[in-house]
Amino acid sequence: MRFKYTISLVFIVALVIIEKENNIISRVSDKLAQRQTPQTPLPSNFSGLAQLNGSYSSLSELDSAFKHLKRRLENYTKQLDNAQGGKKHILLMATTRTGSSFVGEFFNQQGGNMFYLFEPLWHVEKMLTLETGGTNASASAKAYRDVLQQLFFCDFTLLESFLEPLPNDHITTTLFRRESSNSLCEKPVCSPFVKKVFERFHCKTRRCGPLNLTLASESCHQKDHRAIKTVRVRQLETLRPLVENPSLDVKLIQLVRDPRAVLASRMVAFSAKYKNWKKWAVDGEVPVDDEEVKKLKGNCDNIKASAELGLKQPDWLQRRYMLVRYEDIARYPMQKAAEMYGFTGIPFTPQVKKWILKNTQASKEASGVYSTQKNSSEQVEKWRFSIPFKLAKVVQRVCGSTMKLFGYRFVNNEAMLTDKSISLIEEKNFNYKK
Ligand SMILES: *[C@@H]1O[C@H](CO)[C@@H](O)[C@H](O)[C@H]1NC(C)=O
Ligand SMILES: *[C@@H]1O[C@H](CO)[C@@H](O)[C@H](O)[C@H]1NC(C)=O
Ligand SMILES: *[C@@H]1O[C@H](CO)[C@@H](O)[C@H](O)[C@H]1NC(C)=O
Ligand SMILES: *[C@@H]1O[C@H](CO)[C@@H](O)[C@H](O)[C@H]1NC(C)=O
Ligand SMILES: *[C@@H]1O[C@H](CO)[C@@H](O)[C@H](O)[C@H]1NC(C)=O
Ligand SMILES: *[C@@H]1O[C@H](CO)[C@@H](O)[C@H](O)[C@H]1NC(C)=O
Repeated sequence: MRFKYTISLVFIVALVIIEKENNIISRVSDKLAQRQTPQTPLPSNFSGLAQLNGSYSSLSELDSAFKHLKRRLENYTKQLDNAQGGKKHILLMATTRTGSSFVGEFFNQQGGNMFYLFEPLWHVEKMLTLETGGTNASASAKAYRDVLQQLFFCDFTLLESFLEPLPNDHITTTLFRRESSNSLCEKPVCSPFVKKVFERFHCKTRRCGPLNLTLASESCHQKDHRAIKTVRVRQLETLRPLVENPSLDVKLIQLVRDPRAVLASRMVAFSAKYKNWKKWAVDGEVPVDDEEVKKLKGNCDNIKASAELGLKQPDWLQRRYMLVRYEDIARYPMQKAAEMYGFTGIPFTPQVKKWILKNTQASKEASGVYSTQKNSSEQVEKWRFSIPFKLAKVVQRVCGSTMKLFGYRFVNNEAMLTDKSISLIEEKNFNYKK
């Protein structure tokens, strides 16, 4: 009697467990099916797990089948973990003239364990603009996200489809700013340079032949961490599926800068594009309903919406989002770099520290006064002398709430703008750890 009772109890427990495991299995399979991308080092399907089927003649057979299933499940879980296995995927999200190339170097210089790409979305934006005028923001956002996701998996297929001309046999000579990516300039990705024919395709430290993206992909797979810098993602929200991909361990760093300084810098860097602003600076009032002003407002609103979402730390962004101000990086580069590395969970290597020291301090070497390296603390304030108060006021009007969020103080007049004893940067701790 008692024996029978025990057996039926075991049956019930076993069934409950099986039900549960089946749920887990189908959840995991669903997730994988949804999220799977090519070149992922994961099992391609989970049909091998669908082993329990009810036709067992004895309890011991069921028990053995169950144990086997459990082992396999553990095995697959382990493979899932290995897929992440401490590997980090860093997305540095910024806008132009916010110091993103500089901050990108913090990761580019990490050393042998980092695969860094500089602005791969340049090609995507270019093609979308050619084909559709780039006006469909949601289509662009999706293309950006899909390309980023593949690249985090070391898969260049989708990016290749945006390269012009289309690579032949995965060989390209047109990858934007290849030389800004150490990973694409080191051996063996730097394939032997053939004199004359490929004269143009050199890297900073050595001359390389055209880029073999198959080699690049192989090299990427061998690195533990991957970092991509981009100024093209407009809204953090659009990255959600990427961040939630269970095979990736995505860390987002949003880099922001005082929009007045950004405008000042863009007016110099993109002189032709900003000729209206230059005109306004010289003569008369700024038309508030001008397209350029609306664009500035749109940019500020996007940056603010992304930062607000990130700082709110919804579940999907827990421990995955960090906000960094350019001004803090320029003033405390070593400390901020250490914080960023702490946040990503990647070793802050001596190479990075050395690079930062070299590139943030005015050189005190023999050549003396005319040093090429700039004192980055001093650079932070330079914009205050290059933008007329009139334009600063326009930025304050259309980007005011964004500036408040990041702690950038308003100026009330020309004198205040150029008085360096008045700091325009509130000390602020964005408490991204939580
Ligand atoms: C799934 O894997 C099983 C065994 O590993 C294989 O027989 C089957 O063809 C695969 N199915 C698909 C759709 O890849
Ligand atoms: C049920 O599973 C057992 C053990 O894995 C297997 O031998 C048997 O062929 C399966 N039966 C059916 C109908 O799938
Ligand atoms: C676990 O996975 C490894 C590697 O894929 C495989 O060789 C091994 O047979 C698996 N073990 C079980 C119990 O499925
Ligand atoms: C924009 O792109 C989305 C997604 O690709 C598409 O569904 C939609 O129809 C497009 N809208 C326009 C106006 O082309
Ligand atoms: C590119 O690299 C792959 C992988 O090493 C190699 O098989 C292929 O031959 C290379 N392509 C060319 C054109 O050298
Ligand atoms: C850089 O400039 C800041 C502000 O003028 C100054 O305090 C600092 O000592 C300078 N650092 C170096 C290394 O020259």
